[in-house]
Amino acid sequence: MQNLPEYIDWFRYSSSYINAHRKKVFVVLLPGEALEHPNFSNIVHDINLLNSLGVKLVLVHGSRPQINGALDAAKIESTYHKGLRITDADSLQIIKQIVGSLSIDVEAVFSMGLSNSPMHGADITVARGNYITARPLGVLDGVDHALTGVVRKVNAAAIEQHLLAHNIVLLSNLGYSPTGEVFNLSAEDVATEVAIALHAEKLIMFIPQTGILDGDGEMVSTLSPTSAQDVLNAVTSKQENTANGVAQALTAALKACSKNVPRSHLISFEHNGALIEELFTRDGSGTLVSKENFEVLRRATIEDVGGLLELITPLEDAGVLVHRSRELLEAEIGFFFVIEREGMIIACAALYPMDEHCGEIACIAIHKDYQDTGRGQDLLTALEAHAKRSGMSRVIVLTTQTTHWFLEKGFTPIAISELPEKKQKMYNYQRNSKALSKALN
Ligand SMILES: CC(C)(COP(=O)(O)OP(=O)(O)OC[C@H]1O[C@@H](n2cnc3c(N)ncnc32)[C@H](O)[C@@H]1OP(=O)(O)O)[C@@H](O)C(=O)NCCC(=O)NCCS
Repeated sequence: MQNLPEYIDWFRYSSSYINAHRKKVFVVLLPGEALEHPNFSNIVHDINLLNSLGVKLVLVHGSRPQINGALDAAKIESTYHKGLRITDADSLQIIKQIVGSLSIDVEAVFSMGLSNSPMHGADITVARGNYITARPLGVLDGVDHALTGVVRKVNAAAIEQHLLAHNIVLLSNLGYSPTGEVFNLSAEDVATEVAIALHAEKLIMFIPQTGILDGDGEMVSTLSPTSAQDVLNAVTSKQENTANGVAQALTAALKACSKNVPRSHLISFEHNGALIEELFTRDGSGTLVSKENFEVLRRATIEDVGGLLELITPLEDAGVLVHRSRELLEAEIGFFFVIEREGMIIACAALYPMDEHCGEIACIAIHKDYQDTGRGQDLLTALEAHAKRSGMSRVIVLTTQTTHWFLEKGFTPIAISELPEKKQKMYNYQRNSKALSKALN
């Protein structure tokens, strides 16, 4: 084998990704264009590989180009409203045949035993069922969308049973109403709602291009929801035909993000190995839309003073934190850590060196909109690690209203006389703060 050392390195490196992905739910959107592409057999192979690595997979296939072709052949002209097909009863008959036949074809390729491939012998079961309840989209702007529908409910419990049994679940762009009607949905809508209902880790959508491109045609590897919205506005305003799949995928990614699906990936169905590269390499192959990347815990800089003041002033006014002037903050900024989220300082904490063995944790504050989600713990962990790296063997804290929070983090109460001498001299008896200490192992 050529480049054996490189291959071995890559294999070792990928183990952390394998562990991270195992038992996680990924919802994968396969648009109709992807099913027709010569690279589809490679995609099937890579999906099988993920299944073998313990990833729980739900596939949602689309059928737009196949439906277009069949309706054209039957000389049925579709009408559209704002890019959405209005499905009448004649069209639905054809759509049911096309979608049914595509689902069977997809099921068939997953049943091939993967002979002549490195996945030969993998035993994979694909499950299908009526897991999507739909409702009519109704009348929009005076236009009746007839049998075009939207997802009303996802039978998450039934899908989860299949995932627990290690089966791949296959869904299409058809849904069923409790009154027994069939509705034509968008595959993006199905994939998004399923990802939300299953609390999926990832929504992965195959698109015709490598990922999202910037104004210079360069691929953008990560997008915050705000920048994804900007790209979507630009794509929609151009109304380019080729960009349609991209606009729908971006809309789906934005909705998934807002409903707590942590990561949505847009990757190419034309590029062999795009799925593996996206999931098992640091830089990935396509574009990731996520809220997460836009929050960082880092050392504070002088530029953060304004944001810090905004965060801590209300807490100072309430007597929770000791007052610090702008000048003092500027002088002490080197002791601070902050969490920045999309340009806003949402949390801070400081570590003041008391003597060579001891540091004081102070001014820990989380913006009220972001409390109780582990950020306080994250900051404390960062401060303790920093203290250890600086050679300290313990940290102390003085607090009036947060004693129990620190007790739960492993601190123990100490007498004022046990504080470092420097701190004892500064102790404000009127404020009457409790003193706590934690040894750093
Ligand atoms: C105290 C504070 C830093 C905790 O940060 P956080 O990110 O909200 O906390 P975490 O998510 O890590 O932990 C949340 C847990 O702490 C508990 N908690 C929050 N404030 C608490 C307090 N004052 N006393 C005891 N427990 C508290 C929450 O109830 C929650 O408990 P749960 O696990 O049972 O749900 C944050 O609430 C804050 O900024 N408070 C105002 C400023 C302040 O008091 N600073 C301390 C100055 S010494």
